Amino acid sequence: MKIAVIGAGTMGSGIAQLVATAGHEAALVDISAEQLESGTTAIEKSLSRLVKKGTLGEAQSDAVRQRVAVSTSVAEAVTEVDVVIESVVEVLEVKQAVFVEVVAHAPDDVLLGTNTSQLSITAIGSAIPEHASRLVGLHFFNPPVLMRLVEVVAGLESSEKAIERAIALGESLGKETVLCRKDSPGFLTSRISALVRLECLRMLEEGVASAEDIDKALKVGFNWPMGPLELGDFNGLDTYLHILGSLEQTLGERFKPTVTLRNLVAAGRLGRKTGQGIYSYPS
Ligand code: NAI
Repeated sequence: MKIAVIGAGTMGSGIAQLVATAGHEAALVDISAEQLESGTTAIEKSLSRLVKKGTLGEAQSDAVRQRVAVSTSVAEAVTEVDVVIESVVEVLEVKQAVFVEVVAHAPDDVLLGTNTSQLSITAIGSAIPEHASRLVGLHFFNPPVLMRLVEVVAGLESSEKAIERAIALGESLGKETVLCRKDSPGFLTSRISALVRLECLRMLEEGVASAEDIDKALKVGFNWPMGPLELGDFNGLDTYLHILGSLEQTLGERFKPTVTLRNLVAAGRLGRKTGQGIYSYPS
């Protein structure tokens, strides 16, 4: 298959690498030539790490590299593709504009996937009403090469055929899939994960246990690779507050961010990236 991945940031470059590793041709597109370059460097680095670990052979790694073509033109990249996976910034209007351009140049039977983490698939599809039946959510996890799940999300207009193709695509990429049948805020995964993390923050605020013990309970007791509080610091507490804010607006009170989280963000203690969050990270 030939698959165009639009957006060469953290996720797009990882998805292009995954696509090429599975033996498909990847066309990686970004409006910024600089981003394309850093996306390509990220792929190179990841491949080198995998070769060093012995997960991938040298020849295989070279072949993956050769299967990733880069371009700054959506129109050029999508003319002969089977699938388009959009992974640009999380802004509704930007995603809609990308799909308007895609459908103007892509073949009529192309499967359209968006890697949005929380925007409505139906709202994105409303910009391309005649093609919305071919659009589904294809939600990958970071880093796409290593994480095992792809969450397929059906928009109101998504056809059964598009959903089936999306599930088959996930499988062809070596992933497990889950289907979120109803386009709803936070889909399956963000909704569950936001609630667990929020409950951990509530327990911390109530003084039920230390941050270390709350994280340890989840890691050791439930096999989470990272504790929910550590994960908040890792991804950025500002991002987390933003996600909770939009889930609260759509799903109500149970997603209301805690006062501690608001205060940490207001104080600029955003987690690892600022050296302090729920934990401290001395440089
Ligand atoms: P990022 O900011 O690293 O990359 C976004 C890229 O899109 C940038 O390279 C930017 O130049 C490019 N871009 C912006 N407008 C464009 C356009 N019109 N045409 C082509 N390229 C354009 O963002 P990231 O983290 O890779 O996220 C991308 C998408 O994936 C977002 O929708 C995000 O919500 C979703 N996502 C992110 C995850 C994460 O852990 N970072 C996990 C799962 C989904």
